[in-house]
Amino acid sequence: MKKVECILRTGCLEPMISAVEQLDISGLNITQIVGYGSQKGANETQVYRGVEYTIKLKEKFKVEMVVNDEKVDDVVSTIIKVARTNQVGDGKIFIYPIEQAIRIRTGEQGQAAV
Ligand SMILES: Nc1ncnc2c1ncn2[C@@H]1O[C@H](COP(=O)(O)OP(=O)(O)OP(=O)(O)O)[C@@H](O)[C@H]1O
Ligand SMILES: [Mg+2]
Repeated sequence: MKKVECILRTGCLEPMISAVEQLDISGLNITQIVGYGSQKGANETQVYRGVEYTIKLKEKFKVEMVVNDEKVDDVVSTIIKVARTNQVGDGKIFIYPIEQAIRIRTGEQGQAAV
């Protein structure tokens, strides 16, 4: 089992959800986040009460899905297909090993619980 975590542009939220639904994913979590990547955030200047300040952090969203190992390649290629614009800031995918999963209702463990 693996957790596929991806950080993507806010604009691709709906297409991403529709695309991963086609892959028969059993669940997912979405979080609104801010962050920056290797460009350290494109510094935008704004003025608040007459004082100029720069905004470094970009709004993104994070999707987390725990899937069985054989699904990982499909999930990753689907994310890339939806999210790639070839411009900086397209996002990142991180893959984590999952030690255990337990479905609370039944007590099932491992792959059966995912
Ligand atoms: N090393 C990292 N660790 C954790 N989060 C990251 C990391 N790199 C990027 N992120 C997150 O992913 C978002 C998008 O990153 P981004 O696509 O700009 O990465 P990048 O390495 O700068 O690639 P690119 O050159 O294509 O812009 C960031 O705003 C940040 O939230
Ligand atoms: Mg970047």
